[in-house]
Amino acid sequence: MHYSIHRHDHLLQMQFSINRRLLRNNCLFFLITLCFLQLFFISIKYNTRQVTNNLQLYVKKQNETYSKQQDHHFKYLQSKYYSVQCTLLYEDDQDEIKHALTLLSNKTYLKLIDDKYYNITKEQCKNYKLQRFNYPYHINDEQNKNFPIAFTILMHEHVEVFERLLRMIYRPQNYYCIHVDNGTSVDVYNGVKNIVQCFDNVILVSKREQVVYATFSRLQADINCMNDLFKYPHWKYLLNMANTELPLKTNNELVKILKIYRGFNDIEGRWKTRNPHRTQYRWETIPTGNTDQQLTIKKTDRMKKPPPSHIEIVKGSAYGAFSRQFVEFVLTSSIAKELLEWSRDTYSPDEHYWSSLNFNTHIHAPGSYKAKDDPTKWTARFVNWGDRNCNGTIVRGICVLSTVDLALLANRRELFANKFSLNRDPIVYQCLEELIMNRSLINLPLVDAAYYRQMPFLQRM
Ligand SMILES: *[C@@H]1O[C@H](CO)[C@@H](O)[C@H](O)[C@H]1NC(C)=O
Ligand SMILES: *[C@@H]1O[C@H](CO)[C@@H](O)[C@H](O)[C@H]1NC(C)=O
Ligand SMILES: *[C@@H]1O[C@H](CO)[C@@H](O)[C@H](O)[C@H]1NC(C)=O
Ligand SMILES: *[C@@H]1O[C@H](CO)[C@@H](O)[C@H](O)[C@H]1NC(C)=O
Ligand SMILES: *[C@@H]1O[C@H](CO)[C@@H](O)[C@H](O)[C@H]1NC(C)=O
Ligand SMILES: *[C@@H]1O[C@H](CO)[C@@H](O)[C@H](O)[C@H]1NC(C)=O
Repeated sequence: MHYSIHRHDHLLQMQFSINRRLLRNNCLFFLITLCFLQLFFISIKYNTRQVTNNLQLYVKKQNETYSKQQDHHFKYLQSKYYSVQCTLLYEDDQDEIKHALTLLSNKTYLKLIDDKYYNITKEQCKNYKLQRFNYPYHINDEQNKNFPIAFTILMHEHVEVFERLLRMIYRPQNYYCIHVDNGTSVDVYNGVKNIVQCFDNVILVSKREQVVYATFSRLQADINCMNDLFKYPHWKYLLNMANTELPLKTNNELVKILKIYRGFNDIEGRWKTRNPHRTQYRWETIPTGNTDQQLTIKKTDRMKKPPPSHIEIVKGSAYGAFSRQFVEFVLTSSIAKELLEWSRDTYSPDEHYWSSLNFNTHIHAPGSYKAKDDPTKWTARFVNWGDRNCNGTIVRGICVLSTVDLALLANRRELFANKFSLNRDPIVYQCLEELIMNRSLINLPLVDAAYYRQMPFLQRM
C-alpha cells in the first residue's frame, strides 16, 4: 500500500510539471487537464480508502474470530510478538534497527514453541485453522483458483518454522508435499503430521529419506515429493523449498509472474563455474565415525563414466520453478531417469541435476533454455553468497538473512529468499509476515512485470 502511494505521488509530480509548460501555451487546455487531474486524484483517494477499509475489515474479522474462541485452545502455540515498527525497518531507519537488535540481543527471548506443543487433534482442526491460518487472505485469493501451484518443503527440525512458512504460502487451491527427514525426532514428525491432517491439500511424502548434506538423498527427497504431487492433475508449476526459506512475493504475485513465464522453467545454470571433481569421481556416503547414524560424503579415486545421452553437466541451484511438463519429463523420460541414476554417486547432484536437464538443448526438456549464456538470469531464489555484507551468521557460505536486510528484501524481485533462522532472528520473520500479509489483501498490479518479461529464458532464439 505504502509503495503504491509513493508511486502515485511521483506520477502526480510529473503531471504537474507537464501542466506548467502547457499553461504558458494554452489556458483552455490547462483547464481541461486540470479536470483530468482532479479525476485522477479522486481515484487515488478512493483506492487508498478501499485499501484501508480492507485492512480494517481484516483486523476486525480477526478480532471477531478470536473473541468467539474465548476458550483459546492454542494459547501455548502463540509466537512471541516483538514491539517493532516493521515499516520503519523496511525504510532502513537506523534507530528502529538499533531497537530491534537490542530486543534480539536478549537471548532469553529467542525460544521457539516446543515441538511437543503441536499436539493438535483432528477435532481441533477447525479452530486451529481459524486462529492460526489467516483465513481472510485465503478468501481473497479466489482469483487464482485456476492457477494452482505445487510446493515441496524439505525439513528436519522446528515445527514452528514449518508452521510459519506454510502459513505464508498456504492457499486452498495449491498443493504441498512435506518431506520430514527420516532421521528426525518423533516430536517434530508428529507436530508436522498434526498440522498436515488439518488440510486436504497438504500431504506428507510417502517415502522418507535420511537426508545427508551434499548427497543424492537431498535430490531423492524432492523427487519423492514430486512423484506424490504429480497425482494431482491441476497445478501449473512446482516450486521446491527448504523449511528455512521465506517468500518475497504473495501467492497472487507468484501467479502473475509464473503466468508471464508461460511454461518455461526458471532454473539457474552456470557453464563456466563447474566443479569437475564433483562429477568426474565417484563419491560415497560413509559413517562419520562418531555414530552409525551420522553420515558424510567422501570422494574416492575411482573415475566415473561420462554422463548418459552426451549430457554436459551444468552447475546450478537445488531450487527452481519447474513447469508441470518439465516435472513430468523428470519423472517419466528415460533420459532424465538415466541421468538421475548416473548422479547417484556424485557430489551434491541437487545442484546439477535440474540445470543439466534444463540447459542441454539436445535433450529437449519441456520449458528448457534455448541458449548457452553464462551466467543465466533467474528469479527463483535470492541468496547472499557473501557477495554483499552479511549481518547474520554465514552457514556453508550462505548468509543467514536478518532484520538488517529487510529493506533489501522488500525490493528484491526473486520469488523466495534463502535462508533464515527463526531462533536467531524472529523479527525478520515477523516483518516479512506483516508485509506479505498486507500485500496479500490487496490486488496490486505487478509493478515490475517488464523485468520478468525480459528474462532470457523467455526469449525466442
Ligand atoms: C479486539 O477486541 C477486544 C475485546 O474483545 C477489544 O478490547 C480490542 O480493542 C479489539 N481490537 C481491535 C483492533 O478492534
Ligand atoms: C529479557 O527478556 C526477558 C523475558 O522476556 C525479560 O524478563 C528480561 O527483563 C529481558 N532482559 C533485558 C535485559 O531486557
Ligand atoms: C497439548 O499440550 C499442551 C502443552 O503441554 C497441553 O496443555 C494440552 O492439554 C495438550 N493438548 C492435548 C489435546 O493433549
Ligand atoms: C528410514 O530409512 C530406513 C533406511 O532406509 C528405513 O528402513 C526406514 O523404514 C525409514 N523410516 C521411515 C520412517 O521412513
Ligand atoms: C550489522 O548491523 C549493525 C547494526 O546496524 C551494524 O552496526 C553493523 O555494522 C552491521 N554489520 C555489517 C557487516 O553490515
Ligand atoms: C500492514 O498493515 C497494518 C495495518 O494497516 C499497518 O499498521 C502496518 O504498518 C503494515 N505493515 C507493513 C509492513 O506494510
